[in-house]
Amino acid sequence: MVAPRYERIVILTGAGVSADSGISTFRDKDGIWAKYDVREVATPEGFARNPLRVHEFYNRRRRDSAGVEPNAAHVALARLEQTHPDVLVVTQNVDALHEAAGSRKLIHMHGELLSALCARCGERHAWHEDMGLETVCPSCHRPGCMRPNVVWFGEMPYRMSEIENALARCDLFVSIGTSGNVYPASGFVAQARAHGARTVELNLEPSSGISHFHEAIQGRASEIVPPFVEQLLRNAELM
Ligand code: OAD
Repeated sequence: MVAPRYERIVILTGAGVSADSGISTFRDKDGIWAKYDVREVATPEGFARNPLRVHEFYNRRRRDSAGVEPNAAHVALARLEQTHPDVLVVTQNVDALHEAAGSRKLIHMHGELLSALCARCGERHAWHEDMGLETVCPSCHRPGCMRPNVVWFGEMPYRMSEIENALARCDLFVSIGTSGNVYPASGFVAQARAHGARTVELNLEPSSGISHFHEAIQGRASEIVPPFVEQLLRNAELM
C-alpha cells in the first residue's frame, strides 16, 4: 500500500464506485450501453432527433436513483476529505451519492441527474421530477427548452480548468471504478503522473489505462476503498 504522506490528493471516480449501491455501470456486460444506444440518448444530435426518448431515458434514471444509498466507498472518501486538508473528488457520475455520503469538495464533471439546464437562458435548477417536451424553465418561463444538466458526448465536461490545476498540483492521484474509456477523464492519470504524482487504481478489473498507474488494487469498491483510505490516514498520522 501507499507509504508516504500525501499533501494534495485528487480522486477520480466512475460508475464502479456506485455499483455496490445498485446503480448500473455503462460498459459491463449488463451495463447501460448494452441496453441503450449511446448515440441516441447521450449526444446533442440524439436529443435534437428525438428529445422525448432522451427525456424518458433520464427520467427513468432519475426515478431509479430515488432511495439509492451511498456505499462504504462513498462514505470512506467523505471521511478522507473530513480528515485530510486537501482532497478533491472529481466524479464522472451523475448520481448524488458522493454528496449524500458527505463529500463537499466535489466536481461533477459530467453533470448531475438531479439538475436541469435551460438550453435558452443557460440557468440550472435542482430537479427531482420528470422532464418533458413542454417543461417550462423556472427562470425564463419559456416551455420546451429544458434538458437534463448532464454532459453528452461531444460536449465539454464541466470545470476542466479547475480539474487540470488540481492534477498539476496533486501528489497522489487515485482512480476508482472507471474503465478509462472516456476522454478527457481517461487522460487524467497521465497528466497527474507527468507532474510527479503517485498514481493508484482501485477497480474491479484492470482498466484500459492500467499501464499509467504505479499501483493497482482489484476488487469491489465498497470492499477495497475503506481499507485504502484507512491506510492513507494512518500514514498521515505517523508523519
Ligand atoms: P464504465 O461502465 O465504463 O466502467 C465502470 C468500471 O467499474 C469498469 O471498469 C468495471 O470493471 C468497474 N466496476 C464494476 N463494478 C465495480 C465495483 N463494484 N467496484 C469497483 N469497480 C467496479 O463507467 P465509467 O468509466 O464511469 O459518460 O464511464 C465513464 C463515462 O462513460 C460515464 O460517465 C458516462 C459513460 O458513457 C457519459 O454519459 C457522458
